[in-house]
Amino acid sequence: MSLRGRIIGTGSYVPKNILTNFDIGKMVDTSDEWITERTGIKERRIAGEGEAASDLSLQASKRALSEAGIKPNEIDMIIVATMSGDMPMPSTAAILQGKLGAKNAAAFDINGACSGFLYGLSVADSFIKSGMSKKLLLVGVDVNSRFINWQDRSTCVLFGDGAGAVVMKPTRTKRGILSTHLHSDGDLWDLICLPGGGSRHPASSESIKNNLHCIKMKGNETFKAAVRTLEKLALNTLKANNIKPSQLAMLIPHQANLRIIKAMAKRLGLPMSKVVVNLDRYGNTSGASIPIALDEAVREGRVRSGDYILFEAFGSGLTWASALVRW
Ligand code: UT7
Repeated sequence: MSLRGRIIGTGSYVPKNILTNFDIGKMVDTSDEWITERTGIKERRIAGEGEAASDLSLQASKRALSEAGIKPNEIDMIIVATMSGDMPMPSTAAILQGKLGAKNAAAFDINGACSGFLYGLSVADSFIKSGMSKKLLLVGVDVNSRFINWQDRSTCVLFGDGAGAVVMKPTRTKRGILSTHLHSDGDLWDLICLPGGGSRHPASSESIKNNLHCIKMKGNETFKAAVRTLEKLALNTLKANNIKPSQLAMLIPHQANLRIIKAMAKRLGLPMSKVVVNLDRYGNTSGASIPIALDEAVREGRVRSGDYILFEAFGSGLTWASALVRW
């Protein structure tokens, strides 16, 4: 059996503050009915004052490490997938390394936006396959609420905050990460972007006045691109592993829109009982959505040893990614 990465512990954390559709209805011209019908979202979590990406990551990581029975100083690598880290530098992974006391770990962030966790899973698996990492912590975290224009109803209803983490180690069994598939199309970078605060539009009173530090999205174009792309991605991922959709125990999709998720399930012929959905409670938590959904599925006892689980995500870049895992 060839060497591959295997997830041996999961953890997640969402902030306590809940913002419902009714709360948002008091801020902009929208309604619970519109948001529920078009997205499936009912409420989302908002990080408290002073609560940043590394704080959410710390809670999720502690839970994943405890589940895996691994001490922080045994971890040799920390990867954080985020587009809303504590600050541009240092990396959120480095800050997390310090907070955890993971003294023997290298640490870096990757930015794959909503596909970030699956990009991270692929990078993590590669480090494990090459022998460079023996015990790895991968976190998906986003504090989207800090980058929302709360007057823009086309985006403020969609996003939420949260973190999910997994601990991985090598295996030579039939279990683990069977394959990962990564894609991008930078020609469509402006479908979802946060243009301010980088070297293109550094922070200035002008950039702040124009809300350049907030997420912008061409929702409907993104929606169509997501449905088109994800169907092909899922079928290709199964084909690469000689697996039929009927052999899947579970689909864990990125939680952006219930209509996108239902279209995927229908295309694969999967009943919704095999699909993990939590966007009704958390909205779109970007890089955190898949690891939070995985952790909840594990803790609810929905995942069994030997199960085939398909993960897929789509987001800014554009990027899209998938993974087939045997639990
Ligand atoms: O995680 C990264 C990937 N992200 C995604 O995959 C998100 C993909 N996009 C979507 O989920 C959907 O496109 C949205 C939920 C964002 C929007 O749904 P839609 O069915 O594509 O609506 P739309 O943008 O075409 O807008 C339809 C109407 C417009 O009004 P008119 O022009 O028809 O009069 C909008 O102004 O809905 C209006 N609208 C709203 N109305 C009430 C837009 N946002 C709202 C709102 N409340 N919050």
